[in-house]
Amino acid sequence: MNNTLKKRLARTAILSMLALMVGGGISFIQMQGGPAQIIQKGFQENTLAPMAGLSIGGTFALTDQAGKAVTEADFKTPYKLVYFGFTACPMICPTELRKIAGVINDLGPVGENIQPLFITVDPARDTPETLANYVSLFHPRLVGLTGTPEQIETVKQTFKVFAAKARGKDPEDYLMDHSSFIYLMGPDNQLLALYRVEDAPEFLIKDIKNQISL
Ligand code: NI
Repeated sequence: MNNTLKKRLARTAILSMLALMVGGGISFIQMQGGPAQIIQKGFQENTLAPMAGLSIGGTFALTDQAGKAVTEADFKTPYKLVYFGFTACPMICPTELRKIAGVINDLGPVGENIQPLFITVDPARDTPETLANYVSLFHPRLVGLTGTPEQIETVKQTFKVFAAKARGKDPEDYLMDHSSFIYLMGPDNQLLALYRVEDAPEFLIKDIKNQISL
């Protein structure tokens, strides 16, 4: 991990932490022991050291929108843009998926080397069929991935994703609080960059061109 990425990760982590605290009203008790606590430690101590040891992203075993078992190796493009969310998300997920689709299109031939992936944090409702209908709204190459609760828990841990059911009365009709990052993954499944909700498509396009070598 280079220094620019380390700095960016720390900044991203702090901002998302604040966003979660303010927006979600999520207590630290719920997140104790997880990567969020490590991030919080770095924030309090104003040091990048805890972040440097945090490995983010990697391999996975999930089910695609056709109901087929897949791993990262099934996607043949050298690069991936990965986003975690849920299909019933009212705003952030659609906005970020539109951003990913626009960025891939605007990258032209470079974009063809990037596989966009949407991984659900709500496997109870996001079946392959639900995902198939949803991803087709955004980009013809966007693939939706779900899995067993255990598989989703594992991939969330691999990518250091925070997600939890928001409090509500209706057990069927709920929202999820979740962290929102776009992960640029490289040919060896290593994290190359992490983009925030605040990052404009133009920034992603410029940065992706810098990050990838074809
Ligand atoms: Ni969302």
